[in-house]
Amino acid sequence: MGNESLANLMTEERRFAPPAEVVADANVTADAYTAAAEDRLGFWAEQARRLSWETEPTEVLDWSNPPFAKWFADGRINVAYNCVDRHVEAGHGDRVALHFEGEPGDSRSLTYAELLREVSQAAHALTELGVEAGDRVAIYMPMIPETVVAMLACARIGAPHSVVFGAFSADALATRIEDADAKVVITSDGGYRRGAPSALKPAVDEALTRPGVAGRVSNVLVVRRTGQDIPWQDGRDLWWHEVTERQPAEHTPQAFDAEHPLFILYTSGTTGKPKGILHTTGGYLTQIAYTHHAVFDLKPETDVYWCTADVGWVTGHSYIVYGPLANGATEVLYEGTPNTPHNGRWWEIVQKYGVTILYTAPTAIRACMKWGDDIPAQFDLSSLRILGSVGEPINPEAWIWYRKHIGADRTPVVDTWWQTETGGIMISPLPGVTLAKPGSAQVPLPGISATVLDDEGNEVPDGSGGYLALTEPWPSMLRTIWGDDQRYLDTYWSRFPGRYFAGDGAKKDDDGDIWLLGRVDDVMLVSGHNISTTEVESALVSHPRIAEAAVVGATDPQTTQAICAFVILRGGADAGDEDGALVEELRKHVAKVLGPIAKPQRILPVEELPKTRSGKIMRRLLRDVAEDRELGDMTTLTDATVMELIQAKLPGAS
Ligand code: WT7
Repeated sequence: MGNESLANLMTEERRFAPPAEVVADANVTADAYTAAAEDRLGFWAEQARRLSWETEPTEVLDWSNPPFAKWFADGRINVAYNCVDRHVEAGHGDRVALHFEGEPGDSRSLTYAELLREVSQAAHALTELGVEAGDRVAIYMPMIPETVVAMLACARIGAPHSVVFGAFSADALATRIEDADAKVVITSDGGYRRGAPSALKPAVDEALTRPGVAGRVSNVLVVRRTGQDIPWQDGRDLWWHEVTERQPAEHTPQAFDAEHPLFILYTSGTTGKPKGILHTTGGYLTQIAYTHHAVFDLKPETDVYWCTADVGWVTGHSYIVYGPLANGATEVLYEGTPNTPHNGRWWEIVQKYGVTILYTAPTAIRACMKWGDDIPAQFDLSSLRILGSVGEPINPEAWIWYRKHIGADRTPVVDTWWQTETGGIMISPLPGVTLAKPGSAQVPLPGISATVLDDEGNEVPDGSGGYLALTEPWPSMLRTIWGDDQRYLDTYWSRFPGRYFAGDGAKKDDDGDIWLLGRVDDVMLVSGHNISTTEVESALVSHPRIAEAAVVGATDPQTTQAICAFVILRGGADAGDEDGALVEELRKHVAKVLGPIAKPQRILPVEELPKTRSGKIMRRLLRDVAEDRELGDMTTLTDATVMELIQAKLPGAS
């Protein structure tokens, strides 16, 4: 990026005050910002007291060897005890922890007392298999209760888990097992996906034959979910139910140092081998429990919380497993896809369980917009009181749609910015405090320091753009990249010495609120102006005919880069644009919203956009299309046929 700051084109004037009923009873009020600003470390020390420590910490932050942080270093704690046992001890054993909803429609509710028994038995089972504190365990599972049980059992015995998303290939699994040197793998025969059983175990078998992995894993524990036939290696493979059911129902949790490793989670990044992001125990759980309490305003006695993410992502780790359970929440765990067997499946689940807090991703919201307003309208969604968003910038129109059609034009929407590396939410409105602006994550949470820097590392003034940076360490920060301290330093701490470089473009508006503009690699340079793909996408989505848009900069001899947009029209396939009039109208619309400099040179209506399995648009592939190049690596794409469909749309293709 040149010296000039990122474009700051979009103006969004709509504002939404927090509803009186949320304000009246909010878990966190504006005082928290003041308290944390006066004494940041004191504030976090106080949040650490939400947890039950075996040994209370006397230290807060040790930053004597930056950027290698230690939080609450002399404290000792057991994470599983905090997520399960203490709620049972407090008399809430009969409270439902998990309402599991299987994709085929089977369901099962587990109380905290039942969860305690299952976690205890699983902890004994792992110990019987020789897993000791510090040993790594790989978990490759569908979205079923045993996945949560397995993670908590690992935490209970101090064995860091490495959860690998269930839709990843045998190769991806092998790389991760090898990098973490996992001793045991926990998997299932399969899971239900789009109406059919989909096998998992064969991928484990295949991964375990790869060089570098073969012979290292002593046991594979297999949960029976679908009952389908699977290959079996006697001696190595064991049924989960056979090994766990014969274990004692009680297990004494042992406390670990606050900096004991809790989990490794791999993020792909655009280049190079995946990075094993390491999270530890006491600081992580402190920030996750606090943010879940503050951002979602959770009332454990009455709320029913649902985060639609997969446990294979950090959102699932922090806001399905550790945050909600540390806070004693009742939550929904859903196995399948939003449109199986029909496009209203999610809303049916909200109605069935009376979900009050929903946390999902912009990509899912835009898919629902595309399916039509009439789908959610068929269900009773009146239980909802807080809506959350995470994963990418949410376009103002998607934000408005979410609030209006899911939240009855009444619920706050919290747009939460964070990363696998940050472990927990960093920038977000508070539902009982913040005057909300659609499309902006707005303000760092109490105790968090974030800002926007220019190329030289100076803070930009309000009204300007640059790079998002975190200026103080935070409790749930990654501690390093597993086995690669140097890469940790190079990736996050070298761009702006002393500050954490998040890799996202951002701007501050005139009120100082932060707007995320996408990964810095996704910023376009057009005739000397830096223009964010996010802003052009939001401008396109603000047109009533557009459901979703992906924008890339294609090399152009005249303007350096030319803006090229791929759009999905509302109403689906039959809403085509044979005469090109709509495309012209859309170009004018962007020029009107953002200014003529941001007018796309090309707009291509398509059926689908290429996405990773976590829902992020793969702009790299679209750039290949726009620049008429052979397509690059497609292994992380959910569905490779999408690219064929897009290429078939190009002028010149038959
Ligand atoms: C990247 C991190 C955080 C859990 C899921 C993703 C983007 C995330 C937002 C948001 C704008 C967002 C950023 C970030 N992102 N949330 N609310 N607004 N962008 O975790 O896979 O580690 O991705 O997701 O680009 O850097 P991840």
